[in-house]
Amino acid sequence: MKYIWLDVDPGHDDATAIMLAVNTPGVQLIGVSTTHGNASSEYTALNAARCLYAFGSKSEDVRVFPGAEKPLILDAKHDPEIHGIDGLGGVEGLPALDDPLVHAFFENGPDGKPTRALEGMSRIIRSVWADGTGHKVTVVSSGPMTNIALFVSVYPDLLEAVEEFVFMGGGVGVGNRSAVAEFNILCDPHACQIVLDVPVKKTMIPINVTHTAIVTDALHSHLRGAAKPSEATTPLRHTLSTLISFFAESYKSTFGFDAGPPLHDALTIAYVSNPEIFATTRYRVDTELSGTHTAGETVVDVWNYRKCDDTWGRHGKNCLVAESLQVPAFFKLLFDVIDRCDEI
Ligand code: BDR
Ligand code: CA
Repeated sequence: MKYIWLDVDPGHDDATAIMLAVNTPGVQLIGVSTTHGNASSEYTALNAARCLYAFGSKSEDVRVFPGAEKPLILDAKHDPEIHGIDGLGGVEGLPALDDPLVHAFFENGPDGKPTRALEGMSRIIRSVWADGTGHKVTVVSSGPMTNIALFVSVYPDLLEAVEEFVFMGGGVGVGNRSAVAEFNILCDPHACQIVLDVPVKKTMIPINVTHTAIVTDALHSHLRGAAKPSEATTPLRHTLSTLISFFAESYKSTFGFDAGPPLHDALTIAYVSNPEIFATTRYRVDTELSGTHTAGETVVDVWNYRKCDDTWGRHGKNCLVAESLQVPAFFKLLFDVIDRCDEI
């Protein structure tokens, strides 16, 4: 069993990561923290709870802990062009923002306010690790990495409880929010560098790979399970179909992609459950913190120019970088999970 902490900014593809984290066999989701990113932190926290409910999680099993409202140093930036103002534009079948079922996913303190990410994360990871007698946790991030950077900075003693950090973000020589910067890293490059420097295994899933996991029209109709584009056979399939439609439209209008939207964040959970469908290589990776044209770039030392050693921290080849994905195997895994949900 893989124990997963998930840090997200839902976000259409974050929603698909939540769906997989809740329903993939062999994976146990132990908690969710949320960050600024695709939308404001208010929306991303509520969206995470809405998704958990819609995708079959129970508030007594998994809680949502709202986290950073802004990056460590920079101002927050959101991405309404891709995800709508509320982060989940066009997605149908989720409970409303003010539904008590949504608010049940927050753990309220004596002041009536939700427990924050750092507190929830440290407490739950510590209890699962149980000072070495329990389980290590895989910390998965599919948004700007502010919460994760704070976690490793405030609780360095908990690094031994972390099996691995897995994050969707960055690119090898390419970007989507500048010529070389990917959105999650561009939002908080300092946070990414802090995480890259910790002496624990890490895996980066960059856009070079996530852009191979495209939901084509044929895959979208398969997902609906119905002949007509306006129909889907179950509420879950309807929700996912409306999600894909909106995301596809955003990618078409923003980037001119008409092949379909890439399911970036879903790959993080697929990597944890089925690492064998990815090819990875270990490199030195750093983040460009400033730069006239390159701020937010993940700089991957493909030829080991810096002669880094085999340690995971500051001086080593600090990160596995996903370089390819067996795309049909990924979609099989996704559809197997959706098929299983149909039976529940
Ligand atoms: C990343 O940015 C967001 O739009 C997505 O949720 C994903 O995490 C892709 O660059
Ligand atoms: Ca995301």
